Amino acid sequence: MIVPTYNERGNLDELVGRITGSCSGAGIDVQIVIVDDNSPDGTGGNAEQLAKAHNIKVIHRAGKLGLSSAVIEGFRAASGDILVVMDADLSHPPEAIPAMVSKIRTGEADVVVGSRYIEGGGAENWPLHRRLISKVATLFARPLTKIKDPMSGYFALKRSVIDGVTLDPVGYKIGLEVIVKGHVSKVVEVPIHFANRKSGKSKLGGLEMIKYLDHVTRLYESKRFWLAKYLKFSIVGGTGAVINLAIFWGLLEMGNIEYHIAAGIAFVVADTNNFIWNRLWTFRSKETLHFQYFQFLIVSFCGFWINQGLLTLLIDYAMPGMGVLQDSASFYKVLSQVIAIFLVSLFNFAANSLWTFSPDVKKRT
Ligand code: GDD
Ligand code: MN
Repeated sequence: MIVPTYNERGNLDELVGRITGSCSGAGIDVQIVIVDDNSPDGTGGNAEQLAKAHNIKVIHRAGKLGLSSAVIEGFRAASGDILVVMDADLSHPPEAIPAMVSKIRTGEADVVVGSRYIEGGGAENWPLHRRLISKVATLFARPLTKIKDPMSGYFALKRSVIDGVTLDPVGYKIGLEVIVKGHVSKVVEVPIHFANRKSGKSKLGGLEMIKYLDHVTRLYESKRFWLAKYLKFSIVGGTGAVINLAIFWGLLEMGNIEYHIAAGIAFVVADTNNFIWNRLWTFRSKETLHFQYFQFLIVSFCGFWINQGLLTLLIDYAMPGMGVLQDSASFYKVLSQVIAIFLVSLFNFAANSLWTFSPDVKKRT
């Protein structure tokens, strides 16, 4: 059992009692690994006391280093072949341990998740905003796993699932990380009743939610690298288009400015925006700037001319050839532009992946 703790002093006695009770009833030989981050309330000392009477290993870390990294340390320190992760605050019922462990022992599953959202499970009168946050977060994880409660912090796994796997400790959802990156072939959910914490308070704040968004995008990338990168690149491109139009419009409104010049300024500002976000977010570049920025500008500039060429090709040749284009058929011109923009985005994406940010792409960061 891996139990990360931060200020859980008031919960440990009951937790350890219920874990050992539940396990001995099912004939499970249990070791509890408590990973405490130097809790100011003295949880660490309390854990040491309990370790005198039970099979408990306490890991003391210097300070609050995060839930996921605590769990990862617990994985390393634990000696069993079946690992179970649970919160210390008694919201996860220790009585479910035997059911979870037996599904792994029989080979029915290599990961078992304690689930609130399947038949028989639930969450004790959660306030509306927490239910909502949980649902939205679950939706984001949908493309990664089909299970109903991927947000659960209560799960069991066979050790071989994480053999040789590098787990990224970003954010709170270490269970999701294990399911997506581990050698997993069968995930099964068992119903649990998620109780409100007995004492102390939750450590899940707004920052954790932002970190969660970062975490899911990283997981998307680990599963569908190119698709995820292209989607991010397109989102950035979308912001650039908005900025471009806003500046173009603003400059024209100021008057006295030739529209080609206005367009040129709008282009450079928007493209600089795109460069910054693609460097920081899409490609997470760790390389020094060098002339990355100019490479990016050059690519966009080529993209612009390719766009013009494609428009000519589509509007002046392809469409009349198919007999569709009349002089005033702006619908077909707009359609041509949509196709051209899509093709140019592929070109820009490919050129920036293979040239501007190629060292980062090679490292698959
Ligand atoms: N060592 C260590 N370091 N432990 C931590 C840290 C940390 O930085 N942050 C939290 N913990 C411990 C807490 O002491 C608790 O035992 C457990 O991790 C979960 O923290 P809570 O603060 O109780 O989280 P929660 O109730 O908001 O969230 C729980 O429920 C969610 C379900 O919606 C967690 O289980 C989530 O993983 C789960 O998704
Ligand atoms: Mn909790």
